[in-house]
Amino acid sequence: MRKHIVAGNWKMNTTLQKGLELAKNVNTQISGNDVIVVLCSPFIHLSEVSKIINKDALFLGAQNCADKENGAYTGEVSAAMIKSTGASYVIIGHSERRAYYGETNEILATKVKLALQYELTPIFCIGEVLEEREAEEHFNVVKTQLNEGLVDLSDENFSKIVIAYEPVWAIGTGKTATPDQAQEMHKIIRDHIADSYGQKIAEGTSILYGGSCKPSNAGDLFTNPDVDGGLIGGASLNAEDFMGIVTAF
Ligand code: PGA
Repeated sequence: MRKHIVAGNWKMNTTLQKGLELAKNVNTQISGNDVIVVLCSPFIHLSEVSKIINKDALFLGAQNCADKENGAYTGEVSAAMIKSTGASYVIIGHSERRAYYGETNEILATKVKLALQYELTPIFCIGEVLEEREAEEHFNVVKTQLNEGLVDLSDENFSKIVIAYEPVWAIGTGKTATPDQAQEMHKIIRDHIADSYGQKIAEGTSILYGGSCKPSNAGDLFTNPDVDGGLIGGASLNAEDFMGIVTAF
């Protein structure tokens, strides 16, 4: 069976002290359930958070990584550096990276390969903007993001990837996709993966939903057969809300 995953994306929030407090709070409430719980903190928090979490029950991730392996790239953080903190996941291709930092599918494809090379699990984000949905282009947009962002991967490597479907119009807006909208898209994504990598790999791929997910709607979203968890922004900044989502399965 595929894994259920709930990952918190703290984005550019929390000082180191506040971040540690939040991580400790989540850590005390985690009781090794069936869900894989990941905290994606800012880079500079990673090694400190890594020291205080129970690694049997809680995983650590970054929100981005460099598209270069190492060298003279001032300000960048490599996959190897992330791995060396104790983190095991990395979000790649979040819509905010795509929109504000010009990350193209080509750049993202390189990041995915580097993450895999350094044994980080990529949480690869895809999703359409409102205009694309209104123009009924959303399925094509998401398929193109998959085709161009996840290229030249062996079956073995593809099996390590987690997909996060995040409709951009739902991120941080309070406007969640309906459970039916989420299921419809997740099924399209799974079928598309099956076309390229076969049914077995598609059935094993965890596809998370992201976009204004909160304790009150997580249960309805997660009951869908193709929704395998969530990527949580705002609600991950409060330990009780975040745990309310974790326990919604
Ligand atoms: P949100 O963000 O839960 O605040 O909508 C989700 C995300 O951007 O990953």
